Amino acid sequence: MRKKMIAGNWKMNKVVSDVPEFFRAFSSACGLAKDRSISAKVDILFAVPSVLLDACRTTASGMGIHVAAQNIHQETSGAFTGEVSLPMLSDIGVNATLIGHSERRQFFGETNQSVALKTASAQKAGFLAIVCFGETLEQRNAGQTEAVIKDQLDPVFDAISGLNNIVLAYEPVWAIGTGVSATSAQAQSAHEYIRNLTRSRFGGSADSLRILYGGSANPKNIAELFTKADIDGALIGGASLKPDEISSMVVKALEAK
Ligand code: 13P
Repeated sequence: MRKKMIAGNWKMNKVVSDVPEFFRAFSSACGLAKDRSISAKVDILFAVPSVLLDACRTTASGMGIHVAAQNIHQETSGAFTGEVSLPMLSDIGVNATLIGHSERRQFFGETNQSVALKTASAQKAGFLAIVCFGETLEQRNAGQTEAVIKDQLDPVFDAISGLNNIVLAYEPVWAIGTGVSATSAQAQSAHEYIRNLTRSRFGGSADSLRILYGGSANPKNIAELFTKADIDGALIGGASLKPDEISSMVVKALEAK
């Protein structure tokens, strides 16, 4: 059975002084403060802005919570003003990252090719890479959802050396930050397609691959999403900023069959 993952994406929110109180409230609300074994049953991860990484890692790692970057550069060093490298992150004890979030693609020119390069570099460096992708509303309405997903994933599959340390995050663009989640049936249909696509490239190891759903996931819809066979967790934006909301999603993940 695949271990569920609840991953928060803080995007460009919060400051260092918010960090201790956030994790105090979160760990007490989800039960982690009293029972550390929770982190063995569900992977809990927060992807936070670079300047918050050190504070989050210091505060959260003792609780078994993983801390991730939101983006990385594929090169290890060099003249890339404004970028953060994998060795810089390892140096502060961070070994996980999001890659290819739709906001990176939309606002910062990330392409399927750059996502593939970054994923390969992250995997080589031993990082957990959470690779994000998903279709726009126009693409869905035009019946292109599966073709778009394939176009997004094929270059990644060409670049990686297997599925070790890879997590996929299906985030339909139309569901991100809109309050309109994909239905559990829509999400399952995409996840099943993604798993089959992965299986056709990597064989049986696709059965251990975790595929997260992201896009207006919240405490109200998460239990229903978790009834579906190929939904192994959630990547959560807005609700991850509120300790009571994301903690209740951890509890729902623990309760899921
Ligand atoms: P929301 O949960 O706010 O829709 O954001 C989803 C997301 O982009 C997570 O990466």
